[in-house]
Amino acid sequence: GFEVEARRSGKTVQVAEGQSILDALATVGIKVEISCEQGVCGTCLCDVLEGEPDHRDVYLTDEEKAANDQILVCCSRARTKKLVLDI
Ligand code: FES
Repeated sequence: GFEVEARRSGKTVQVAEGQSILDALATVGIKVEISCEQGVCGTCLCDVLEGEPDHRDVYLTDEEKAANDQILVCCSRARTKKLVLDI
């Protein structure tokens, strides 16, 4: 697992193996708008402030993925121990 800090909300959660960032955030009352939950539509896009996402979506372009400043929280994970999101 890894840790996600929702900086604007002032909350940090642990994301377990097999759990999505979306689900982990929901456990502390942070709701992100979603639609497909499969990394296709882009609805759940969040800005990344710190850390490196492990992109699992098919929505962002390769360039956008390489910039590491956005993440689709319904499916993507983290390469670093911690991600800080602007939510
Ligand atoms: Fe569609 Fe995350 S909800 S990409």
